[in-house]
Amino acid sequence: MGQMIPDLAAANRQSAKLKSNGISNGINGAGKKCQYDPTFTQKVIAATGPNANPRLAQIFPSLVRHLHDFAREVNLTVGEWSAAVDFLNDCGRMSDDRRNETQLLCDILGLESLVDEITSKQLATSTTQTPSAILGPFYRSDAPFLPNGTSIVQDLSASVPWYEQALADSAFLSGRVLSTDGKPIENAVVDVWHTAPNGLYEQQDSDQPEMNFRGRFRTDQQGRYALYALRPVPYPIPDDGPAGRLLGLLDRHPNRPGHIHFIVSADGHRTLTTQLYDSRDRWVDNDAVFAVKDELVVTFEPREGDPGARWELGYDFVLGRC
Ligand code: BEZ
Ligand code: FE
Repeated sequence: MGQMIPDLAAANRQSAKLKSNGISNGINGAGKKCQYDPTFTQKVIAATGPNANPRLAQIFPSLVRHLHDFAREVNLTVGEWSAAVDFLNDCGRMSDDRRNETQLLCDILGLESLVDEITSKQLATSTTQTPSAILGPFYRSDAPFLPNGTSIVQDLSASVPWYEQALADSAFLSGRVLSTDGKPIENAVVDVWHTAPNGLYEQQDSDQPEMNFRGRFRTDQQGRYALYALRPVPYPIPDDGPAGRLLGLLDRHPNRPGHIHFIVSADGHRTLTTQLYDSRDRWVDNDAVFAVKDELVVTFEPREGDPGARWELGYDFVLGRC
């Protein structure tokens, strides 16, 4: 990827040369369609063997058709293709168990959000289910179980640099977990996580204690959950790698609106992965990863008479049956 910009410059020169030869946008100088081998794509599709993996055999022809059509439509040059290969290799090299750059690439392309929408609509059993949203790369599966009504904010003292903001953003979250027939679900697990006021998840920030701003809560007999957290702040997705360089080349910003992540699960129900977005956030209509859905935009209200929270939010999650 370090070579992406020089390669793109070379690719641009190659493109300009093709254009001066009259081969651009699939139209030649005489206004006729240019003559790329019309049998080529079918040849590649037909190479799949009879014992291919069935799902792959089903979807691979479409993938090849779209890829080849794209290359023909934009007159993709060897220089441009090679820059893209370097870019993907850079994404892979940067990825490990703490950072998934290739997933981040999918996020800025809107692909994780699109696949999430397709999957949740395919599996939906009712239109009243709470919409899903992408998991994102900062989930940790082993957050502590905490009693209902307690806080996911750890070790908050005046020595923390963002202490004042944490006090100003303190929020009480509560609601119910319901089935699509409206019945409360007892013993559902509400797994919740968000960033510190500095916009960093605890695993990105060595100054935060393990599992800060993370917790799992079990609903009571009436399906209720309750916890103290913070009103979330916007933050930039990691943009110091290839995905960030792509954002720069596209003249795009890296910001996500303030949000709280949830995974809500219960026996006999489909697990819901989702996020709630603060309606007053400046990026709520302009998310770098295209994950915001109207039904997930919420308004925090001022909370009276509770020294533990300046804001409150009530939200019921509705799970589909499986
Ligand atoms: C997140 O919400 O945590 C996230 C989602 C996509 C990319 C980066 C972060
Ligand atoms: Fe997030």
